[in-house]
Amino acid sequence: MKDYYSEQGIPEADAPNCPLVKSLAGQTALVTGANSGIGKAIAVALGHAGANVVVNYVSREEEAYRTLDEVRHCGAKAIACRADVSREDEVKQMFRTMLSEFGTVDIVVNNAGLQKDAPFDELSVEAWDLVLNVNLRGQFLCAREAVREFKRRGVRRNVSCSAGKILCVSSVHDVIPWAGHVNYAASKGGVAMMMKSIAQEVAPYRIRVNSISPGAVRTPINESAWNNREAYNSLMTLIPYKRIGEPSEIGRAAVWLASDDSDYITGATIYVDGGMTLYPGFETGG
Ligand code: BGC
Repeated sequence: MKDYYSEQGIPEADAPNCPLVKSLAGQTALVTGANSGIGKAIAVALGHAGANVVVNYVSREEEAYRTLDEVRHCGAKAIACRADVSREDEVKQMFRTMLSEFGTVDIVVNNAGLQKDAPFDELSVEAWDLVLNVNLRGQFLCAREAVREFKRRGVRRNVSCSAGKILCVSSVHDVIPWAGHVNYAASKGGVAMMMKSIAQEVAPYRIRVNSISPGAVRTPINESAWNNREAYNSLMTLIPYKRIGEPSEIGRAAVWLASDDSDYITGATIYVDGGMTLYPGFETGG
């Protein structure tokens, strides 16, 4: 088995490239939890595709400002906005700020999420509530504000054929059970069915709702799974494609799902996981 990590080293983060075709020009995107990891990569990719970006964060403000610099690299407008997505008042205030700054919103990326792991019999109510509140309730609150604005405004034909796009960042653990992470897996399973139910309800308004479900992606949330050779090799037994994912790969999937190139897609989950959901235990025939 090839060890991508040791043979090729850690790939450099994608050098900022300013694409000639700006598929999201004239649109405004909100990305929650955009100060690091996958959220940051999505914010940068949407900005480079021409969207104005609202970079939401709840802590580590300095990282949000670093995201802004990268988003602006290709000329996009960007603002940072602090809000705890699990709090209704803060989400509403964030939408008010965004609408007063940019007039409307076209793309909402529900990315903010966290893990608080424990063996099931030691899982506290606090850890359960924290994870469910951010990962599921937070997605509900932001999606609801988005739908309200999309319905109010309708289709802006000069920028997109749809009235708005919601992307839910879920996880392979919306279908793969995960021992020791019951709260996290439950939150992502909830996201999967919430996404489909919202998609079904709002499709007649030309609002599209989809999920991206990443597998193992090189971010701080799972650093212990890739930051040394032993952990990395063990992770590879779960990934048929035999490499970890890069945040920019989730960013590119998000740009496509937010663009009119995917206009007939709603209620779908795209697994960006190097085959992690393909039952890797059966790789050699079972
Ligand atoms: C989790 C990561 C994990 C990956 C694959 C993600 O949803 O946040 O910690 O490495 O799933 O198991």
